[in-house]
Amino acid sequence: MRLFLTGASGLLGGNFAAVAARAGHEVVGTVGGWTGAPIPGLATQMRLELRNGAALEAAVRRARPEAIVNCAAVSDPGQCEREPELAAALNVELPRQLATLAQKLGVRLIHVSTEQVFDGSGAPYSVDDPVAPINGYARLKADSEREVVAAAPLLSAVVRAPLLMGNSPGGRRSVHERLLLDWSEGRVARLFNDEIRQVAMADNLAAVLLELCVRCELCGVFQWAGAEPVSRHWLGLAIAARFGIPAQGRVVVAHLLGTPLAATRPPDLRLDLRPLTELLSTRPEPLGPQLARLVVPEALLGAMGKLRNGPLPWAQPEPSGAADGNAGPASAWDGRRPRCCGVTAVSKAWMRGRARP
Ligand SMILES: NC(=O)c1ccc[n+]([C@@H]2O[C@H](COP(=O)([O-])OP(=O)(O)OC[C@H]3O[C@@H](n4cnc5c(N)ncnc54)[C@H](OP(=O)(O)O)[C@@H]3O)[C@@H](O)[C@H]2O)c1
Repeated sequence: MRLFLTGASGLLGGNFAAVAARAGHEVVGTVGGWTGAPIPGLATQMRLELRNGAALEAAVRRARPEAIVNCAAVSDPGQCEREPELAAALNVELPRQLATLAQKLGVRLIHVSTEQVFDGSGAPYSVDDPVAPINGYARLKADSEREVVAAAPLLSAVVRAPLLMGNSPGGRRSVHERLLLDWSEGRVARLFNDEIRQVAMADNLAAVLLELCVRCELCGVFQWAGAEPVSRHWLGLAIAARFGIPAQGRVVVAHLLGTPLAATRPPDLRLDLRPLTELLSTRPEPLGPQLARLVVPEALLGAMGKLRNGPLPWAQPEPSGAADGNAGPASAWDGRRPRCCGVTAVSKAWMRGRARP
């Protein structure tokens, strides 16, 4: 199958290119400002400013794809606040244009949305629950869902994704890559133990998107995630343990509830993955196998020895994780299911502090 992929230099797009090529598909992929090595898996790589609608349409027509997969976005909520026009162009106008084009050409479109379309007060969320975005990024993604479904109702599938882990082409986009960079530059990660995410690997989500490219009967909005909800704090501890890095002084527990950030960060985004889990062969993964596939970005290989060598010299003992039921693995990741979440308690605590809309 010939596939047209936008955002091939991103975390998800880079993984999609590799997964699709391994399965024997021909991938024509776009990059924006990417200046690194050729993206593995792309048969054709083109630099394209995706806000240029005419150039985009010409590129899609030239490629003559059987499916379009949209992994391009302004994916950082902070950047969406700082650059609202750019964010609206990439996160709403681009998917709308791709859906219109897909409809015109009669090709399949797969678009990626986010679990953040929910406000986090009513988890777990089913695909039919009403969206209630509480930040600008999420509002744009919710708009994109409506635009895509309206413009190509019988050709499009939209997948709401959770917080993604994985190895990105540039080594700077995913959770573990950002944490390793922070730690290598001496920064402490303050991570919420009451922010629950059902994290998934980008290559696992890519396999879902690829299945959807050929399952043309599956149209509308869907959800995908990992098999286990974890707190951000637990995830930080598990990532440190995965790479044999002492967490003391590098990962510090923080609480979202009661801070101004709680107004824009949904606390609990567990998802009900039906009906996709009943329809696809790709399975949601537990955390252990996800962590096992993470690698150290090349640029940080040199820093790893120092990072593994013990706590930071100025490290203070962390406020007891055990006290809030969020104690992490002490050394190397032991593959056990996290005991951490206290999801119900967290949701209830959050609900006490905030009225449901
Ligand atoms: N990452 C997550 O945790 C997460 C969670 C839920 C949902 N999602 C969604 O999943 C999708 C993929 O996210 P991601 O994390 O893979 O994003 P990402 O790593 O930030 O990649 C974004 C991609 O978009 C391209 N791009 C951005 N602006 C462009 C422009 N003006 N012209 C051309 N290309 C442009 C970038 O190209 P260059 O880098 O070459 O400029 C890059 O390839 C997005 O829809 C995102 O909202 C992500």
